[in-house]
Amino acid sequence: MTTDFERIGGAQALREIIEDFTARVFSDVMIGFLFHGKDHARITEMEYLFAARHLGAGVAYPGRTIRNAHRSSPIMGGHFMRRRQILANTLRDHGVAATISASWLAHVDSLRDQVLAPSTGEGSECDHAEQLQRVGASPQQQQARHSATKSLPIVGD
Ligand code: HEM
Repeated sequence: MTTDFERIGGAQALREIIEDFTARVFSDVMIGFLFHGKDHARITEMEYLFAARHLGAGVAYPGRTIRNAHRSSPIMGGHFMRRRQILANTLRDHGVAATISASWLAHVDSLRDQVLAPSTGEGSECDHAEQLQRVGASPQQQQARHSATKSLPIVGD
């Protein structure tokens, strides 16, 4: 049976797609900052193997679980959607068939809860104290931010 991996064009075509995708993500104005200081080559290789496995290539994915890989990044719903859109654009630009692209994006969507930082789900508000702690802000920075947000007037009050 022909797999989506083969339909896309096999290893070489998928590598080109993933290399383009991670280059776009790393340099993106909205989510690029989340990748500062991260290992571009490793992420590209892991994203390739993760995608190849999903597409039926029969390869092993030796990386961290999706939850563990993203645990220390303050990823919110908008960041998730931005990466999703960049992936959709990359697949379109490489001529990937709409059916394959749709099932790939559905797989991405099924992993959303494992990628998002706790308490940033849709409809929830950013917990500033928690997020500052996650990104390693000093106790002084956390206190300063806390006081600043407490004194903000609430619209409608
Ligand atoms: C379902 C969607 C996603 C998938 C399948 C995915 C996949 C991956 C993979 C395979 C890795 C490498 C794991 C390893 O090194 O062992 C990784 C790392 C990373 N991802 Fe994602 N990712 C997703 C969503 C996101 C989003 C939305 C963001 C931010 C906008 C993001 C940011 C990162 C960062 C910053 C790393 C490096 C983590 C570190 O080394 O500390 N990812 N991702």
